[in-house]
Amino acid sequence: MKPVWFIAFAASLISVGCERTVVPDYELSSSLRTLAKEDFDKPDELRREIAHQLEKQCGTPQHPKLIGNPTLAPEHLSRGAEVYRLRCAACHGNTGYGDGPAAKGLSPLPRDYSKGIFKFVSVVDGSKPLREDLLRTVREGARGTSMPSFAQLPQQDLDAVVDYVLVLTHRGELESALREAAVDEEEKIDDKLATKLAGDIAKKWVVPRNKHIHPLTVEPPYTWESIEKGREAFAGANGVCFKCHDRDGSARNLLEVGKDPWGHEGRAADLTSGMFHGGATSLDIYRRIYGGIKPMPAFANGYPKDPDMLWHLVHYVQFISGARRREVVRQFTASSTP
Ligand code: HEC
Ligand code: HEC
Repeated sequence: MKPVWFIAFAASLISVGCERTVVPDYELSSSLRTLAKEDFDKPDELRREIAHQLEKQCGTPQHPKLIGNPTLAPEHLSRGAEVYRLRCAACHGNTGYGDGPAAKGLSPLPRDYSKGIFKFVSVVDGSKPLREDLLRTVREGARGTSMPSFAQLPQQDLDAVVDYVLVLTHRGELESALREAAVDEEEKIDDKLATKLAGDIAKKWVVPRNKHIHPLTVEPPYTWESIEKGREAFAGANGVCFKCHDRDGSARNLLEVGKDPWGHEGRAADLTSGMFHGGATSLDIYRRIYGGIKPMPAFANGYPKDPDMLWHLVHYVQFISGARRREVVRQFTASSTP
């Protein structure tokens, strides 16, 4: 080889080497990592088998696969993984367990996707969220938490990263399902079982229309009368909301509300901060009250004789939120409706 060629060849090797970034592999969840002989005969073997099946169904960080949607272009999901590593993994963790290096000390904690449970959804009965729900949160963020808005990303990247969040979510769900099948049911882990469990997960994510939240009535006008009805239902003699949110809605007294689905002590939202984690439109707030956010119960059937009450509650909540109050003061001086 002539020296000049050799130098060019060596230089190309070096430049390729420099561009290649190290992509960390997926990890197993802490419950599988800490699984001991007392819980399962051969924990190491089980970990290996589960990791093998997860790779078959969900791919690797370089080549992810989405359960239930095998036709998605591989480049789309790889792009999603890239955006995720750059913008989300620091908080949500490389594998989506909500345990990234920046997660420590955050309250609320970044979402652990692996349970397949989400908060800011437009469905009822603990049903899986719509893809649009996740997209909305990523686009708009959760105001008042550390979850930023990514509205500046191109739509293509938003779509890609949401699909990648779904890859990680399904991977987490499949991991639990495989672990439960092996440890609790003593089933043999093989291709057939993994394919069946993956199919079950895919089915759960097809949300039937009757689980979507459709408001029971059309939103009545935002008037003092409506706000007053909402106040009565919130904090009056038969009010139900103040028990967790406080009489003034600020939840300042840290009332005990029970654990959230991730096992952490729940905390009612401060409704006076002007920052709604799940969005500030009337429909956003209606959905929170209608569907609940565990440990907050759903109030879909809370007012069978007066279904407009859900809207009155929305109006009262908007009224006590700081942003709305400022607007009200301005409008109040100009007209007799709030
Ligand atoms: C600085 C930390 C941080 C970063 C960076 C971050 N998140 Fe989050 N994320 C959070 C926190 C905290 C929550 C939980 C909010 C809550 O529980 O109210 C959350 C929640 C979520 C949820 C769940 C919403 C629901 O309905 O339960 C999704 C989906 C999500 N983030 C996606 C993303 C994506 C995608 C990215 C990157 C493009 C990202 N996040 C970047 C902190 C972060
Ligand atoms: C058992 C306790 C409990 C009761 C009762 C309760 N809530 Fe909640 N509420 C919570 C918790 C917990 C959250 C969720 C905080 C989180 O995880 O973001 C919440 C969240 C909310 C949110 C979402 C705020 C946001 O930032 O997006 C609204 C709106 C709300 N509650 C209104 C109400 C109304 C109206 C009632 C009465 C009809 C009510 N709540 C009753 C505990 C409760």
